[in-house]
Amino acid sequence: MDLLFATGNPKKSEELKALLSLHDYNVLDLNDLHIDTEIEESGKTLHENANIKATFLCDYTQKTALAEDSGLEVDALFGEPGVYSARYAGIPKNDSLNTQKLLQNLQNIENRAAQFRTVIALVSQKGTFSFEGIIRGKIIDTPRGINGFGYDPVFVPDGYDQTFAELSSDIKNKISHRANAVQKLITFLTINKHLL
Ligand code: IMP
Repeated sequence: MDLLFATGNPKKSEELKALLSLHDYNVLDLNDLHIDTEIEESGKTLHENANIKATFLCDYTQKTALAEDSGLEVDALFGEPGVYSARYAGIPKNDSLNTQKLLQNLQNIENRAAQFRTVIALVSQKGTFSFEGIIRGKIIDTPRGINGFGYDPVFVPDGYDQTFAELSSDIKNKISHRANAVQKLITFLTINKHLL
């Protein structure tokens, strides 16, 4: 069954496709749908941004649509960069400048605890639903690894010694914030198939 997902980020899309194909869902992202509108993420929370993106796609296609918004929340920075994770060091978005800024802001700070959070919004004619996933971990001093994207090279999930950028995509896709939120979405869709 097709799931329309309002993302144009190829890395995120790749992860969502891998996660949802295991359950026979076929993710169609903005590129697959030939929609090149840049949806403005003007919300102040991950929930608001996920809703804005899914609502845009639902209105555009007149079909049930999904979107996700994610961010890194660092305990010692009171939840920053959070909803601003993608543009922490400014626009245009730049993963390595964002990571540099994060490490600078954490210099000499002992508490390295952090979490990634994902919110998925499902918007249909029958209502809006949301699903949240979290993974706890810590921020290391020096980036390691080449897989993934964003802050992956400095995030070590709890229970592991390697960063998300060193772990295989198979492992990341089992334990990540996104995997966690997707699992909740799948459980919901299994009993609410009529929404699709
Ligand atoms: P979004 O595209 O507005 O959802 O921004 C999400 C931003 O949060 C990304 O650009 C990354 O900086 C960060 N982020 C979200 N998920 C991940 C992840 O799985 N790994 C690393 N960084 C992530």
